[in-house]
Amino acid sequence: MRMIDIIIKKRNGEALSEEEISFVVDGYVKGDIPDYQMSALLMAIYFRGMNIEETITLTKKMAYSGKVLDLSSIPGIKVDKHSTGGVGDKTTLIFAPLIASMGYPVAKMSGRSLGHTGGTIDKLESIPGFKTSMKDEEFIKQVKEIGIAIVGQTEDLVPADKKIYALRDVTGTVDSIPLIASSVMSKKIASGSDVIILDVKVGRGAFIKDINSAKELARIMVGIGKGFGRKIVAVLSQMDQPLGFAIGNSLEVMEAIETLKGRGPKDLNELIVTLATETLRLININYKNEDIRAKVMEQLSNGKALAKFKEMIKTQGGDVKIVDDYSPLLSAKIQKEIYSLEGGYVEDIDAYKVALSVMALGAGREKKEDKIDLSVGIRLYKKIGDKIEKNEPIVTFYANDVEKLKRAQEIFREAIKIGNKKKDPLPIVLDVIS
Ligand code: URA
Repeated sequence: MRMIDIIIKKRNGEALSEEEISFVVDGYVKGDIPDYQMSALLMAIYFRGMNIEETITLTKKMAYSGKVLDLSSIPGIKVDKHSTGGVGDKTTLIFAPLIASMGYPVAKMSGRSLGHTGGTIDKLESIPGFKTSMKDEEFIKQVKEIGIAIVGQTEDLVPADKKIYALRDVTGTVDSIPLIASSVMSKKIASGSDVIILDVKVGRGAFIKDINSAKELARIMVGIGKGFGRKIVAVLSQMDQPLGFAIGNSLEVMEAIETLKGRGPKDLNELIVTLATETLRLININYKNEDIRAKVMEQLSNGKALAKFKEMIKTQGGDVKIVDDYSPLLSAKIQKEIYSLEGGYVEDIDAYKVALSVMALGAGREKKEDKIDLSVGIRLYKKIGDKIEKNEPIVTFYANDVEKLKRAQEIFREAIKIGNKKKDPLPIVLDVIS
């Protein structure tokens, strides 16, 4: 078999066979297929797509390209969650302890930020001392003991995705439905949980910009999950404006803790409650939806989810004091508040441009190896549709460098629009696909 023939076949719009997909995944992981040929194939897939059989085969080959976790020694129904990536997305930090506090073990392997989207592992590393890497045995032991662990993905879990994702990121081939579906689902299958909850982001700050493509992606991922015998549901959520008010690693941890204290922003709270309700519905199909929702809301306000978050921080070596004293999370040297020059309504906040502004402060990485500044970011005070008075604060920048702050402010100016039109607030949950 030759890679050139496979590239041409896909370029011409034909479906690849199982043997061909196997040849590509194995060959690329081993280093036999060079980046330039893999890039050409990814671009051909980007334009020509893949049918459902090809997508399932690609997912399977990627999932088994490395070690597959066996969680069977952990008693109970194990839950995993994945977001397709957004701006201000601190959902896992709240969802995981919430579900764990209700008695369902959460074994979560998360990623770092890449491109304009954030990553849970970077956020957690802004907690002093918090350890995000551990051996599989330690990870399983922790989930057995306290019902929760959030760690970075180990090197040997889905190596095919690590290599292919890094290449997609620099070849303009991230936002392809079969490539996203196989990337996400290969990691979920290899991570071994029984219940999978997907948060499919839609809008300017997401990889998928329109609702119909997001629905298609969700249906494909749900179909793949079911095919592998997992219970799975996808929630489609709005990512046109940032989620919550905080964007930037340590600021997002603070907002997550506030949400675990029952004081979270409305949109973030609603998303968490929906994700948790859908998860519990998958586990306990006999419950009435309203009963589960009430139970979830009660668990967020009674302090039990927060207690589980603290237990996880302590077990993973982090400083639990941050839960009550945010000062280590507010270590940026410069805090600059910006005020509105006019009264009116917030007509727009573009999540993608906000992300670029936060990246300009140093919070994001262009390349995998880049070091990021965990303390910088943005705190918004308004959302689309909110009324704003003249001289009211719009945003605070947290920065460590004057030049970077200047650049971030310039970009931010393009992200926000204040005018006379009162827009309806954007709904956060757009659909649920199961
Ligand atoms: N998240 C993933 O894990 N993979 C993608 O391809 C896109 C978002």
